[in-house]
Amino acid sequence: MKKVEAYIRAERLEAVKKALEKVGVTGMTVCEARGRGEESGIELEYRGKKVRVDLLPRIKVEIFVEDDIVERVVKAIIEAAYTGKPGDGRIFVLPVVEAYKIRTKEKLGK
Ligand SMILES: Nc1ncnc2c1ncn2[C@@H]1O[C@H](COP(=O)(O)OP(=O)(O)OP(=O)(O)O)[C@@H](O)[C@H]1O
Ligand SMILES: [Mg+2]
Repeated sequence: MKKVEAYIRAERLEAVKKALEKVGVTGMTVCEARGRGEESGIELEYRGKKVRVDLLPRIKVEIFVEDDIVERVVKAIIEAAYTGKPGDGRIFVLPVVEAYKIRTKEKLGK
């Protein structure tokens, strides 16, 4: 099992959710976050002055999936979150040691 963590633009969330449904993923956790990438934020002009906005609002999507669909999940997120402009986001894939479903007490994963 893997954890897929995607940092995306808020306005791409609906598209990402739809794309994930298409590859059979329904379970997810979504967090409102603030972050920055390689550019350390952006520079905006406010009342004639340049202001650096360091941490921008982002959405973090957390999904735990079986190894055999990780590639499809990553592809789906990339396609749905892409605009081509800086700030489109990042995706991280992490190994998962163990997972359980509380109601049935079952251990998850192949
Ligand atoms: N190294 C990192 N660690 C944790 N979060 C990160 C990291 N890099 C980016 N992020 C998250 O991803 C969001 C979007 O990053 P962003 O798309 O600007 O990355 P980038 O590498 O600068 O790419 P681009 O050149 O397209 O802007 C950030 O606001 C932050 O939430
Ligand atoms: Mg960036």
